[in-house]
Amino acid sequence: MKRALGVCYYPEHWDEAQWAVDAAQMAQIGLTWVRIGEFAWSRLEPKPDKLDFGWLDRAIETLGSAGLKVVLGTPTATPPRWMLTKHPDMLAVDAQGKERGFGSRRHYDFSHSGYRAECARIVTLLAERYGKNPHVAAWQTDNEYACHDTVLSYSSAALGGFRDWLAQKYQSVDALNRAWGNVFWSMEYDDFNDIALPNLTVTEPNPAHVMAFRRFSSQMVVEFNKIQTDILHRHSAAPIAHNYMGMVTDFDHFDVGADLEIASWDAYPLGFLSDRLPATADHRIAFARQGDPDLQAFHHDLYRAVGRGRWWIMEQQPGPVNWAPWNPDPLLGMARLWAWEAFAHGAEAVCYFRWRQAPFAQEQMHAGLLRPDSAPAPAYAEAAMVASELCEATEVEIGPADVAIVFDYASAWAWQTQPQGRDFNYFHLILDTYKGLRRLGLNIDILPPDTADLSGYKMVLAPGLATIAAPLMAALQGFEGTALMGPRTNAKTAEFATPVPLPPALPGLKSVVARVESLPPGLVVALEQGGHFLRWREKLQGGKVVEMTEDGWPALVAADGIHYLAGWPDEIALDRILASLCRRSGITTDRLPEGLRKRSDGQRSYYFNYTTAPISHGAITVGSADLQIVANGL
Ligand code: GAL
Repeated sequence: MKRALGVCYYPEHWDEAQWAVDAAQMAQIGLTWVRIGEFAWSRLEPKPDKLDFGWLDRAIETLGSAGLKVVLGTPTATPPRWMLTKHPDMLAVDAQGKERGFGSRRHYDFSHSGYRAECARIVTLLAERYGKNPHVAAWQTDNEYACHDTVLSYSSAALGGFRDWLAQKYQSVDALNRAWGNVFWSMEYDDFNDIALPNLTVTEPNPAHVMAFRRFSSQMVVEFNKIQTDILHRHSAAPIAHNYMGMVTDFDHFDVGADLEIASWDAYPLGFLSDRLPATADHRIAFARQGDPDLQAFHHDLYRAVGRGRWWIMEQQPGPVNWAPWNPDPLLGMARLWAWEAFAHGAEAVCYFRWRQAPFAQEQMHAGLLRPDSAPAPAYAEAAMVASELCEATEVEIGPADVAIVFDYASAWAWQTQPQGRDFNYFHLILDTYKGLRRLGLNIDILPPDTADLSGYKMVLAPGLATIAAPLMAALQGFEGTALMGPRTNAKTAEFATPVPLPPALPGLKSVVARVESLPPGLVVALEQGGHFLRWREKLQGGKVVEMTEDGWPALVAADGIHYLAGWPDEIALDRILASLCRRSGITTDRLPEGLRKRSDGQRSYYFNYTTAPISHGAITVGSADLQIVANGL
């Protein structure tokens, strides 16, 4: 498949005379895609029902005539101010009961029926007008669902919706009381209309109540998105994407992705390292201008799964961003490396954010490919270079993977709801596991939790998967490869109770989790064969022991191929266990030096050097912030 580059562009930010100049320059450096429109509602509908689509007609025509393909965004992340006059109760409400205000973006509640109708109306107008436009070759719904903590809303719209959702799900309030265990602390309800949202309680609310609210809130995002995709699909054959985020688990992306043709995500490697990644101070400094060597790849693999094979980067960091605590300048070469790494993981397109840096408003400190005065910024030449390399390159294929990790959004909610240890974070556990596999030079697939067929893999891992759903359990029963579960896998029922018989209840495995403990920073449990458990350990009884802790408890148990790890391993323990399980599974590994990463596509291996110095590995040497493409077998 031919890969392509693109850019995000805001015609409404610039004089109309500038558009043709910009479009010609984009085409000239080899860009294919241009994404527009996603925040332009106040210019499309300046007053209620006073429409002005003329400028967008001309913008699309200008960009299209220059040879660019347009991704048209629906503008629903930024309702204009008049919308609030029309629907004063459409704002989301935070957990403290405070309404969120106008003056930035994402000021809406996913469950508000009046706002949903307004979105359906504007999307219908766009779809009718541009659905058959030859230049509109893809759509984007809204912009970054969940950004700025906008999924959970404690509004009256959410309350009404939640009660209806509960009534449908449980049918009777007695069934709900039983399912949630509301006999505890006399929390039983007589009527669905007595149930409140799980905020402002005196102490923690029932975790089953919280989990129900998390599922409901996720469903609101799915419904909100589907209103738009149903309309767009009726009028247009162009594929629809949404631009997801990094390290965001607030809604089930697999469920939203089911209604889209393409998954895309917004990659800001330096922002993420500065802002949200758990890392030591040394790691943050060592990779401050390059980004964490695994975080991008993890999301590439995750969104490839969400997009069922089709995925893009809709926004790629081109220089310093404006929103992280610190915003360093990427090393020269990284804007190219990041794009190539995405292609090596199967991205169909990588679009830089944004064409020209805005001289006004919130993001005036955020770099673009051009400076505000239109002079090229450093990433401009790198984008042009990637574009010309893409023309020459043999096509990149999506490489096969021997190993897969199950990723489950509901497990992220589960361990946020009842972490039991302050630093038990599902995303971090998965990322740690992923990093361990990447250090072994492996291609990795991500699987959704309802996966029913594991037969394509030699090894499957599902740490922290709170509940193993029936199809996956059935697949595990017959699985001939190696599985690594735990810690905390299958530890809760679907209703967030502790199952009896006790976890992990895995096929053939006779061990039970007799006791768990969380470990504060500095308290670790040593393993006999090296390394430690951090944050979390379980005391197992029964079953066949593979490894022990120094304090005399099973650390790793197994029954045939199914393994269960009784804690959160540090790097030393994880590396040893993964290497030994790979050997057992007949998986060839290639232990990579710190900061060198690899992805293979069957024909070639792509090596990426995330460090500030050249790295030699076997026969190859890769420069700092550079990449090497090597034919396999050389
Ligand atoms: C993204 C967002 C863009 C822009 C960008 C800045 O989260 O989708 O609109 O704000 O961040 O880095």
